[in-house]
Amino acid sequence: MEEILKIDNLNFEYPDAAVLRDVSFTLNKGDFLGIIGANGAGKSTLIKLILKLLPSQKGSITLFGEDLNTFKDIRRVGYVSQKANAFNKSFPATVGEVVIANLYGKKRLLSRYTKEDRARVRAALEQVGMADFETRQIGKLSGGQVQRVFIARALIAEPELLLLDEPTAGVDAANANAINDILTNLNKQGMTIIMTNHNTPELVKVATKLLIFCEHGNGEFVSKNNLTLEEVNDIFAGRRKHHHK
Ligand SMILES: Nc1ncnc2c1ncn2[C@@H]1O[C@H](COP(=O)(O)OP(=O)(O)OP(=O)(O)O)[C@@H](O)[C@H]1O
Ligand SMILES: [Mg+2]
Repeated sequence: MEEILKIDNLNFEYPDAAVLRDVSFTLNKGDFLGIIGANGAGKSTLIKLILKLLPSQKGSITLFGEDLNTFKDIRRVGYVSQKANAFNKSFPATVGEVVIANLYGKKRLLSRYTKEDRARVRAALEQVGMADFETRQIGKLSGGQVQRVFIARALIAEPELLLLDEPTAGVDAANANAINDILTNLNKQGMTIIMTNHNTPELVKVATKLLIFCEHGNGEFVSKNNLTLEEVNDIFAGRRKHHHK
């Protein structure tokens, strides 16, 4: 089994609050990790640490077999942030431009939009069912559609690990289901995925492994196959100590 991510005794604190305490787990290629936890549990903090958006403190993170401190190829990790769709609605860009910008950045955008780029944009949009929207202004889409575009934006860089922070928050049930189906399909094709979400049943359905923050930052890592939704809820509520096999 190919190891993608290894977290070992990770701790993190902000100046006024300890957030993560002794978090450890390993993900192999094709795993789909769901992170469950209340507001403020440290889910986004953990994701930002993996992306090097926050400096490491105590413990280690190993990506693709290399220590994160020396790991340079962060493009191998795709990211859809918690606030991905909370941008200015008058932002003047088309769907296609938002997607391709993840390859070239804004500056080189206009001069670099080649035939091949176009094909890649189309392929990424097709994966999320948004191919017909390529020339549409991003500000004119619904929240669920924008979220799909941001998944395509991450996919165009062909990541090997995809991190999504609450991709279905504020999205209606139909669009949330569509997004979960997209992620399930990607996962079946071999994509390793980490996703946070406040909808525990939804997460239990799509994920193959779970990291459950029962209390502040003290995560319990379990393989979903061993658990029912009820047991997951018990762990989440801290009612029962689960010993993983
Ligand atoms: N930049 C920061 N500076 C100081 N404290 C922070 C900062 N970012 C987050 N925190 C605090 O750290 C804790 C964990 O925040 P984090 O965003 O990781 O939680 P979360 O599990 O993602 O919550 P949510 O479900 O609301 O998104 C919270 O108490 C939060 O207030
Ligand atoms: Mg968060």
